[in-house]
Amino acid sequence: MAIRPELTPPDVRHHIDAFFGRGSLQYDADILRIVPVYQTMFEQLLDHLWVEPDAPWQLVELGCGTGNLTRLLLKAFPNAKLTVVDASQEMLDRTAEKLTPADSSRTELHAAYFNDFDVEPGSVDLIISSLALHHVPDDKKPDLYNRMFEWLKPGGKFRCADQCLTLPGEIGNAHNLTRWQEWATEKGADRATLDRWLEHIHTADHYASLANHFTWMQQAGFTETDCYWRVLFWAVFGAEKPA
Ligand SMILES: C[S@@+](CC[C@H](N)C(=O)[O-])C[C@H]1O[C@@H](n2cnc3c(N)ncnc32)[C@H](O)[C@@H]1O
Repeated sequence: MAIRPELTPPDVRHHIDAFFGRGSLQYDADILRIVPVYQTMFEQLLDHLWVEPDAPWQLVELGCGTGNLTRLLLKAFPNAKLTVVDASQEMLDRTAEKLTPADSSRTELHAAYFNDFDVEPGSVDLIISSLALHHVPDDKKPDLYNRMFEWLKPGGKFRCADQCLTLPGEIGNAHNLTRWQEWATEKGADRATLDRWLEHIHTADHYASLANHFTWMQQAGFTETDCYWRVLFWAVFGAEKPA
């Protein structure tokens, strides 16, 4: 693992620190209301990994947050080693609190921005991420895909659950924002919570269409780019590095 020279702009750092850092203790309660498909999305993500569960895989998780997916991965892959990365030390602390001693011994936690983080080329079997890549500005996503492609072994996989743009962008996004607020309200989110997340969406989120994700992945060298599941913004998609 290597940290690259600082490439993440100060405004992004400030927002991650303010929103995820200070919000880490209430994240788990909020996210189940704010992302009504949260658990279904994880089920879909895990159902589309298509790798043998008992092998000693090297996994990288980008943007682990409070470790909800981390825990599921450690359970699904009992012999895997996991490197998890998040820009927020507070979020990493929440993840660490959830790990058993046995899980901790096969998990490396790194506080780093994706743009500043690197691993040994050709050393990773599976890169996985949920609800994190949409924080990377679109002009930085191709570089991240290029580096992910380098990190993977031949035959390695990338799998992602994320918030994406529905095309046509303006009308699709407006529809999704309306339906999302109705649905989150039904799940128990109050107006103040919705407004806090709306402000986050408008200041820190960079939704890209699946078409753009596929283009960037293919330009990096990935093949078999596909979307396996989608509801409103939320999509589970991925690709393969040729063997
Ligand atoms: C919405 S949370 C998702 C957390 C978790 N994966 C989940 O599904 O609950 C996004 C996480 O990504 C991290 N994050 C956002 N942008 C990042 C970046 N550019 N580099 C590293 N971490 C980032 C945030 O600190 C936060 O913990």
